[in-house]
Amino acid sequence: MALNLDAIGKKIGPLTKDYTWKDVILYALGVGAGFDELEYCYEHQLKVIPSFAIASVFEFLAEAGLSSNVDLSGVLHGEQDIIFHNPIPTEGSLTTEGAITAMYDKGKDKGALIVAEAETIHSNGRKLFTNIFTIFGRKDGGFGGDPGPSEKVEFPDRAPDFEEKATPSPNQPLLYRLSGDVFQLHVDPEFAKASGFEMPIMHGLCTHGYACRAVIKHLFPGEPERMKRFRVRFSRTLYPGDPIVTKIWKTAEGSALFQTVNEKTGDVVIDGGIVEWLSAEEYQRRLEMGGIRFEDRVAIVTGAGAGLGKVYALELARRGAKVVVNDLGGARDGTGSGTAAADKVVEEIKALGGEAVANYDSVATPEGGRAIVDTAIKAFGHVDIVINNAGILRDKSLVKMDPENWKAVMDVHLKGAYNVTRPAFIKMRENRYGRIIFTTSAAGLYGNFGQTNYSAAKTALIGFMNTVKLEGEKYNIKANTIAPVAATRLTEDVMPPDLFEKLKPEFVAPLVLYLCSDQCPVSGRIYNAGMGYFNRAAILTGPGTVVGDGTEVPTPEDVASKMKQIMSMEGAQEFANATEAFGPMLEAFSPKKQAEAAQAEAGLTVKEVFDGMVDAFQADQAAGVDVVFQYEISGDQGGTWNVVVKDGTCEVNEGAHENPTTTIKMSDADFLALMRGELNAMAAYTGGKLKIEGDLMKSQLIEKLFKVS
Ligand code: NAI
Repeated sequence: MALNLDAIGKKIGPLTKDYTWKDVILYALGVGAGFDELEYCYEHQLKVIPSFAIASVFEFLAEAGLSSNVDLSGVLHGEQDIIFHNPIPTEGSLTTEGAITAMYDKGKDKGALIVAEAETIHSNGRKLFTNIFTIFGRKDGGFGGDPGPSEKVEFPDRAPDFEEKATPSPNQPLLYRLSGDVFQLHVDPEFAKASGFEMPIMHGLCTHGYACRAVIKHLFPGEPERMKRFRVRFSRTLYPGDPIVTKIWKTAEGSALFQTVNEKTGDVVIDGGIVEWLSAEEYQRRLEMGGIRFEDRVAIVTGAGAGLGKVYALELARRGAKVVVNDLGGARDGTGSGTAAADKVVEEIKALGGEAVANYDSVATPEGGRAIVDTAIKAFGHVDIVINNAGILRDKSLVKMDPENWKAVMDVHLKGAYNVTRPAFIKMRENRYGRIIFTTSAAGLYGNFGQTNYSAAKTALIGFMNTVKLEGEKYNIKANTIAPVAATRLTEDVMPPDLFEKLKPEFVAPLVLYLCSDQCPVSGRIYNAGMGYFNRAAILTGPGTVVGDGTEVPTPEDVASKMKQIMSMEGAQEFANATEAFGPMLEAFSPKKQAEAAQAEAGLTVKEVFDGMVDAFQADQAAGVDVVFQYEISGDQGGTWNVVVKDGTCEVNEGAHENPTTTIKMSDADFLALMRGELNAMAAYTGGKLKIEGDLMKSQLIEKLFKVS
């Protein structure tokens, strides 16, 4: 059966694998770690041997082999290259996705090479590593394809700088196979014999783990997180129990070559080994940066020539991102243009040792938005982060807000975000990763005199984010919104000078960077940030109430009588999407809910009536009223309360007043019925259910002064 050349470029995955610290330790034991490398074997302060990266995505290798149609009776694992982007956490879930990238023909008698590449993302959102697998199909050569590149690693002509000896246990494959590769060749003596071997052989990837431990031990001991690259060629089989030695030649600061040799036979079992690692300073720098890093991430920051955008761009670049510094370079009202603003920020980033390119397009047009995203793709190949930050102001009170000023602000803030986000989202979706920031404003969230255009645009962005959040969810694209307060060109004439000094844009950037990072756990949220003070703003919905029975349309008066419950925000909640938000409305008329509502109403206690009395007080009806009502309620819920109304205020106290104007005596049940409107006050009085002592006339004020709904 011939190789399936159509498999080239076809997506494999996503394949997901959950793992815990026990898998990490099982792998470490499988590749020979023990008491002298306890950091790999003990859950306290556990570290992951980087070569776990391939053991943990073994399924991908199997899938690539199957989809290539390689003749399984001649298949061998040829080479393995792993590029590390972030340290591997000790537990979580790994999602791996990739494709076969090439098939090379080494000749009829020599075989074929199938190359596949896969990226693995951790459940914390971080890209951990890229695996490049080369599968050797001994029986698949001669299909007339390209022979591919031939890379030969030349070892220095001198003794190795380091040697690490080990003797894998004769039972080693039995332990290693528990990490995923359960192929019979490594466990079944009969199968091994039938395949031409004396006994089950070591897994090549097990020896690979031994080599990985060896290079770490000699080159960056105790710090496996420093590994940047680990590449090997599997050249010979090895029997378990045979002693091995890994020979290491340091070739430069941060790189070395190695091979692993069977000491018994002299066979090189792992050849062409390349290891690269981070310098101690760089590693330290990354540790100090608290782990939020942007290596391999490409960020677009719009309006990054000044103010907040400039700080975001610099901080992202400082932490390793490649940045597109977009800025139109115009005036505060959006007129004019120029290249200097963006160029200067790019220069600053480069001076720091970072990577950046300038873009001068306006976000206000779809062509501009596309060109900004194209700049990222051309310069860096992809786009992971978009910070929609560009902004202008055209403040005028509503009466003077002509259509031109309305439109100019909408074009930059609202359409600008759409123009850039849409083409970027398409690219992010392809890569199944994205972080998008929208910039709103307190003016939009809460209103600001003279900024109808700006407030409208800024709040519209929240609506935009709410749906981007939903559409991006399954692609690991997260969208959040920031409402900054910072001293910039936009705010220089609206803030008092002493406050202006304290409002450095640098104080806003940390939250924005966090929201742009792999670690960002949230999507669809709004945050205020300024001066080092951060809080979250949200759209909350109150519990509401039913007016009527859902069949008869209620009257405005019915609604008015329930305004207290309609307006109540007690127990308010956030909804994840519109459908969820309709839930309470649809449920409200279910028999269960109606029964609950009736019970809640019926369940009102005498004490609750008095607790709510101050809220029910109608201050506008109390001018000139000076009165003390005393309630003496009998029954289980009974007690004495006095209500003092004076100077337009109301005070409710438990207990008797020394000088009440009017005393009302009722049973608890009658009192509650009266409050629910089921008992008429006059009927209660004439029927003897309600007794009044003291100033009878003043009792008539009660209905006017308190509206209990
Ligand atoms: P800024 O004026 O210092 O920076 C805005 C940048 O956007 C400028 O460099 C400008 O040239 C650029 N720009 C304007 N129109 C553009 C366009 N069409 N295409 C590309 N670039 C364009 O202002 P600041 O304060 O840094 O504002 C950044 C964002 O933060 C804006 O969206 C603003 O509305 C928002 N914001 C700022 C607040 C603050 O206190 N500074 C308060 C609330 C929101």
